[in-house]
Amino acid sequence: MTNPPAPTAPSPTNEPAGVTTPTTTTRRTVLKGAALAAAVAGSAGLAGSRAFDLEAAAAPAHHGVFGYGVASGDPTGDAIVLWTRATPPPETPGGPVATPGSGLGRPLRVRWELAYDRSFRHVVQRGTVSATAATDHTVKVDVHGLRPYTRYWYRFRAAGETSALGRTQTAPDEPRREHALRFALVSCSNYTGGYFTAYRALGERDDLDFVLHVGDYVYEYGNGPDRYGPADLVGKRDGIPATETVDLEGYRLRHALHKADPDLQLAHRRHPWITIFDDHEVANNAWRSGAENHTPGAEGDFLERRRQAYEAYLEWMPFRLPAQRTGDHQGTRFFKRFTFGRLADLSVLETRQNRSAQVDVAPYTKTGGGFIPVGAPAVDAQLADPDRHLPEPEQLRWFERALARRGRSWHLVGNQVIFTPIRFPGAALGLPAGDYLNSDQWDGYQADQAALIAHLDAHDSGHGDAVFLTGDIHSSWAMDVPVERTAGYRSAGVEFVCPSVTSDGFYELVSASAKGAPAPAVVQRTRGLTTAVASANPWVQYLDGVGHGFVVLDVTSRRVHADYYLTPVPTAALPDPRVDPAVLPSYATSWRTLRRTRRVVAAEGPVGRRSDEPRERR
Ligand SMILES: [Fe+2]
Repeated sequence: MTNPPAPTAPSPTNEPAGVTTPTTTTRRTVLKGAALAAAVAGSAGLAGSRAFDLEAAAAPAHHGVFGYGVASGDPTGDAIVLWTRATPPPETPGGPVATPGSGLGRPLRVRWELAYDRSFRHVVQRGTVSATAATDHTVKVDVHGLRPYTRYWYRFRAAGETSALGRTQTAPDEPRREHALRFALVSCSNYTGGYFTAYRALGERDDLDFVLHVGDYVYEYGNGPDRYGPADLVGKRDGIPATETVDLEGYRLRHALHKADPDLQLAHRRHPWITIFDDHEVANNAWRSGAENHTPGAEGDFLERRRQAYEAYLEWMPFRLPAQRTGDHQGTRFFKRFTFGRLADLSVLETRQNRSAQVDVAPYTKTGGGFIPVGAPAVDAQLADPDRHLPEPEQLRWFERALARRGRSWHLVGNQVIFTPIRFPGAALGLPAGDYLNSDQWDGYQADQAALIAHLDAHDSGHGDAVFLTGDIHSSWAMDVPVERTAGYRSAGVEFVCPSVTSDGFYELVSASAKGAPAPAVVQRTRGLTTAVASANPWVQYLDGVGHGFVVLDVTSRRVHADYYLTPVPTAALPDPRVDPAVLPSYATSWRTLRRTRRVVAAEGPVGRRSDEPRERR
C-alpha cells in the first residue's frame, strides 16, 4: 500500500507538510520523525543480532516437529491442499536444529491422513511425503478425489510426533446446485503492527467455507528505523529476521514467524485458505522490475530477490500453483479461478508480477507510485497509456472471459488494490487543492481500468454481476463501480474492501501527524478525512479509516452480503487497540448488493445461520 502523507495542520506559510517535504508521501518516511523512531533507537538491543534471530526463530522448531502448525488451502469441489512444516529432530542430542531458512536438517518421512471424522475412524486417504531442506522442510499434499462440500479432518505424523488436528472442507461446488457460501476477506497482516486477534476471531468461527487473503500476508520491514507499527510493541512483537527480508533465508524466516503465531495457527487449523500475494510479500509497491522499497545493488537484483520471495511464499503457504498451460505466460502464472456450483465463481487476480511501473510525479512521489495530482495533461496521458498494464494482457483476457460467462449469479474477484475510480481531495490529505489519485491502484492504470468497466457495462446482469473483493488500503469501503464519474453515474459492479488485520490505516497516519492529540480527537479528524473522501466520490457508500479486522461475505443467488468486523473505536484509555492481545474485532456494520442492481446498500446484520452446512460425519 502507498499511504497518503500524514495530514497535518497547515504550516504558517500554508504549505502542507506533504508538499514541502516530498518524500513524506511514502509510508516509510511517514514513520520517520514519529515517536516510534525514538522508541526503536532507544532499544536498539532488541533488534538483536543474527544469533538472536536464529534462536528466536528456532523456538517453534524446539517445540516439536510440528511447531509451525498445519494449514489447508485452495479448496475445489474434489481437492484440497494440506500443508505443514516438519522440523527433523537434531541428529545428535544438542546438535543443530533445522530452523527455517537454515538449510539444515536431514530428510524426514511425514505421514499424512485425511478423514471424515476427527477421531480418524473413517480415514479417506493417507500417504507419505518427504520433508527436505530443499523446501525448508515444508510439505504440501494436494489431495484429489474428494467429495464436494464435505468437511474433513487431517493430521501429520513424523519422528514419533503427531501434529495438531486440522479441519478443512471442499468447496460447495456441485453442478447445477446451489449451496450456502460464506467466507472471510482479510489482508495486510503486519506482524509488528499488532496482535493477530482478527485471525483468532476467524479461528473461533464455525460458519466459514474458507478465508480469502488478498495480500500482504507478511511484510518485508525490519526492526530498525524502517520498523512498521506501534512503538508499544517493540520488544513484544518484533520481526524475524530483525532486518528487512531480501533473500530466501529472510523470507523463509518471516513466513515462519507468522506460522508460529498462535492466532494465525488457529485460523489456518480451522479453515482452508485461498491466498494471493500483493507487494509486501516481496517489497513495497512492487512492479515488474522493481519496487519502492528495493535499492538495486545494495539489496541485490530485484528479480532475483523476487524469485526468492516467491519461492518462500510457495513453500510456506497452502497454495496450489495453477497449471502453467500456455507458452505465453510472463513469468509464473499465479492467477486462478474457483467455482461454486451455479452460484458464483471466484477469479483470484495477481497484479504485481507483470505490472508496468507506477506513474510518479515529483515532488509527490519518487518511485513506486503514490498520491499524485491529476489534471496535468502529461500526467493524465501517462495514466491512460494503453501500453501500460496492471495485470498482463493474457490475464486480462482470461478475466474478461470469466466476467462474460453466463450461468452463475456472481463473478467474485479476489483483487489487491482498489479497482473503483477514486479521487482524493487534496485538503483531506493535507495537500494543495485539487484532485489526487493513488497511482499504485487501478486508477494508475486507467486503460485497463476503463476497458474492464466498459466490458462489465456491456454485459447485462444475465452474465452475472461482478463483486470486487479488495485489500491493500488498510481501511473499510463499500462502493459501486461507476461507469462515469458523475453524481448520476451508472454502476457496472460493486467493490467491498476489507480493513487491515494490523497494518497502519488512516487513523494511525492522522495520529502520527497529530502528535500527542488525544485518541478521540484523532478519531474525529480521521472521520473528517474519510467523510471528505466519500463525499468527493458519490459512489462510495461506506468508508471507515479507524478499525482493523475483517469482512465476512455471505453469498446467495439473491444478494452478496458483507459484515464488517472492526476493532473498537480508540479511546484515551486504549488509543491503539492493536497492542492489546485481549481485544478482538467485533461486528460493526453490514452492506450488501442485490442481484441485478450492481449497487451497494446498507443492510441489517450480521448474517445468521447458514442455509445449509457441509456434509460432516461426527
Ligand atoms: Fe498492506
